[in-house]
Amino acid sequence: MNITIGSFERVKSKVDLLVAGMFEGDAKPPLVLKKLDGTAFQLVQSAIKNKRFSGKKDEQFHGYLDSLRSSNEILVLGLGKKENWKYEPARRATAGALNFANANKLKSIRILAECFLGGAVKLEDVAFLISQTIDLATYKFDRYQTKEELKPKRTVESVEILFSQLSKKKEMTQMIEEGRLIAGAVNFARDLINEPGNRLQPRQLADCARDLAKESGFRSEVLGIAELKKNNMNGILAVAQGSHQSPQLIVLEYGVSHKRNGTICLVGKGVTFDSGGISLKPSGGMEKMKCDMSGAAAVLGTMKAISKLKLKIHVVAVIPCVENMPGGGAQRPGDIIKMHNGKSVEVINTDAEGRLILADALSYTKRFNPKSVIDLATLTGACSVALGDRAIGLMGTDPKLVDQVRKAGERSGERCWELPLWDEYADLIKGHHSDLLNAGSGQAGTIVGGMFLKEFVPVKSWAHLDIASTAWTDANKPYHVKGGSGVGVRLLVELLKNWK
Ligand code: BES
Ligand code: MG
Ligand code: ZN
Repeated sequence: MNITIGSFERVKSKVDLLVAGMFEGDAKPPLVLKKLDGTAFQLVQSAIKNKRFSGKKDEQFHGYLDSLRSSNEILVLGLGKKENWKYEPARRATAGALNFANANKLKSIRILAECFLGGAVKLEDVAFLISQTIDLATYKFDRYQTKEELKPKRTVESVEILFSQLSKKKEMTQMIEEGRLIAGAVNFARDLINEPGNRLQPRQLADCARDLAKESGFRSEVLGIAELKKNNMNGILAVAQGSHQSPQLIVLEYGVSHKRNGTICLVGKGVTFDSGGISLKPSGGMEKMKCDMSGAAAVLGTMKAISKLKLKIHVVAVIPCVENMPGGGAQRPGDIIKMHNGKSVEVINTDAEGRLILADALSYTKRFNPKSVIDLATLTGACSVALGDRAIGLMGTDPKLVDQVRKAGERSGERCWELPLWDEYADLIKGHHSDLLNAGSGQAGTIVGGMFLKEFVPVKSWAHLDIASTAWTDANKPYHVKGGSGVGVRLLVELLKNWK
């Protein structure tokens, strides 16, 4: 995809589609359109007069005329009420335009960027949001498809983000690059998630992390089964013992020279396939459980992005990778495990495996003496019941960190909603023959997952993101095609960009 920035003076050749936008309630099309092309302006104006178009959210007006200046075809997007205009509607509008162009087999589009200004959306934001959304909405995963007709169609090859005048070209170009760079990291995470369980196993995930470290120039270390045994990482070992694939613990370190500002640890759940183990999952939809390493993918994507952005922070990624299978050596319900931090856990349900591997990984972060620890995990199906696919479940022990995460979620379009980790919930996983149970009886499933992890966090400042309901989408969304969403990357990068 070729994304460029343009100004009116230099509009010479025609493209396939001009994209404009209009807010609901505006009596006239935007004046920038008139400045660019009087005929196009009139065309839209008569549509408004004749009540054919009013700028309502998600409404589209589409016209075709040979005598237009910048392209023969114009698409005007309804942007809804100006007072509701924010980043997310701007992303949706951009995706709407791109999807329209792809559906109509168009190759080149020009977006009249100033139509998208308003409310909290500033000039630089427009460049960032458009470029990022274009790359997110163009993504597809078709590497295993040989039948052309089955592949998602992506015909758009070039997008020009058009401004009436270019006063801040350098800043704009930088925003476009940054938007694309982050989208690239999201798409990298999506690729990992969409890779099937036979192709991406703990070892391949570790290889991928090593490659990333090599290309980005940061330190990497992978603990194999022998080192995991030596370190008493028995939660990770217990989950892995039912599979032929040996477990791996990935450790990546970025920005050692910024250590004095404090260390942030990112922990991501890397279950390359979750069959449930002996507490086997029902077969319907089980194929989606290749997405159970989405937390790991988000952390890897974030590491990729922050190193490209050259952020001045010290970040250590800790990623436990296993396959959860019901083989002859598998752990059984009733097994009691002595975890890395010394606490004992009775395995009530082998399908609550994520918390067992994360517990050890969280406890392992102690050696890096982090200021804050943040984990991401497709941890509980209950998260879908609580929040659906509209929000990430957020829990934590540090109100300031939780608030920062929430705000980064709002800005990045990956919203979070906090659930409580009150002491009263601790009873639900109190052990009988052990310190803890790995599962409760069904009540407050997402919170119970958080309460369990809390027992293994070695520092005061911790946030837990349950991405089980947002990591995978079953239906195409404006800028998420069916499959892995790469959720978490945009949020973490936004958080770390503003880290203090
Ligand atoms: N990986 C699943 C959670 C999940 C469910 C992720 C749906 C994505 C979509 C996790 O390991 C799991 O199985 N959790 C159990 C916990 C229960 C046994 C306490 C669940 O949610 O049923
Ligand atoms: Mg499970
Ligand atoms: Zn799982």
